[in-house]
Amino acid sequence: MKFETTYKDNNYPIILKQNALAELKHYLKENEQNIVLIDQDVYRYHKDYIKEHLGQLDIKYLTIMSGEACKQLSYFESISEKLLSLNITRQSQLIAIGGGATGDFVGFLASTLLRGLDFIQIPTTLLAHDSAIGGKVGINASVGKNLIGAFHRPQAVIYDLKFLDTLPHVEVRSGYGEIYKHAILNGEAEQHKLMDVYPSIKELVQLEDIASFLKMGIETKLKIVVEDEFEGGVRKHLNLGHTFGHGLEYLTKIAHGEAVMIGILFQKVINKNKSLYDNCDSIFIFINYLKELGYPLNIINQADIELIFDYMKKDKKNIGQTIQMVLQTGESSFTIESVSKDEVIKAFSELKALIND
Ligand SMILES: NC(=O)c1ccc[n+]([C@@H]2O[C@H](COP(=O)([O-])OP(=O)(O)OC[C@H]3O[C@@H](n4cnc5c(N)ncnc54)[C@H](O)[C@@H]3O)[C@@H](O)[C@H]2O)c1
Repeated sequence: MKFETTYKDNNYPIILKQNALAELKHYLKENEQNIVLIDQDVYRYHKDYIKEHLGQLDIKYLTIMSGEACKQLSYFESISEKLLSLNITRQSQLIAIGGGATGDFVGFLASTLLRGLDFIQIPTTLLAHDSAIGGKVGINASVGKNLIGAFHRPQAVIYDLKFLDTLPHVEVRSGYGEIYKHAILNGEAEQHKLMDVYPSIKELVQLEDIASFLKMGIETKLKIVVEDEFEGGVRKHLNLGHTFGHGLEYLTKIAHGEAVMIGILFQKVINKNKSLYDNCDSIFIFINYLKELGYPLNIINQADIELIFDYMKKDKKNIGQTIQMVLQTGESSFTIESVSKDEVIKAFSELKALIND
């Protein structure tokens, strides 16, 4: 499968298939430095496969810290120095091979070094079907996630399904959180399709038909980011589940998409309490589904809502001192609304009771 973004200019292709890695040769820069920065664990798992497809090409390799650990300011400094010592120029190109953290980090390097280099995203997790699209790149600060960043479009996204073979269950579940979020943004039919194909973790980890759902996720995201690249309006809907989810992720260190899925559940409770869309039945069905998939709902019993709330206050979408959350108003309609501390605390204790029921 191949898609093309539909911006007014500077469009980029998105290739999604088995063995897509072999396409990279068409996007390398001739007579310039092409430098792959790869998650060290992904390199360990897929060294032979990468050599098979890229071994003949004139590419430099740099293995980097795996996962979220790379998104630190101090690490950004050390890799920046390393890249600059290779005498890169504005014509050089960076290539990110890894999950969303690798893509965010390498994209941020590309957006800042020499005031902007080209870069290519080669996502290797389910979740990164989301993060590789749309040009948001960034790293974390000690006070919160993704607080240092930029908008910087990639030159191409090459999504090779082969990488998914080695994904641990927790990362499958994490990526599924963002796929499910895209399904919610699409309407109930997409959610039912997902629930039919993946009724429990047993089916989910087989990843049957996953390409068609990744396509759905990519198309959903593309439609939104092309309309609102810099998050002035509708792009905010992509933050569904993230306001609470980011706080939970930051404080408990559960995987990003797992936290987002629990954030979606939290948002459903707020929705119900504001009489916007969800009701007790829809929340129960969703909780049971999350239990079938093995989401770590028990983390709610250990989490401190005061700390999560303090984190939520730092969210980029907030206006003044009020917390802004994406809430659902109809099958596929959404709104951004202020949510007070009292509403957050009430929903949290209700959520605890529902999970332990
Ligand atoms: N820029 C955006 O628009 C956007 C959107 C959503 C999420 N994000 C960011 O994405 C990150 C989460 O992405 P992620 O879930 O891909 O996390 P990740 O990059 O941290 O990867 C998760 C783990 O999986 C491992 N891994 C990666 N590929 C693998 C493979 N093929 N086989 C085995 N293990 C593999 C990694 O080493 C890591 O330990 C967060 O930092 C989040 O903030 C960004």
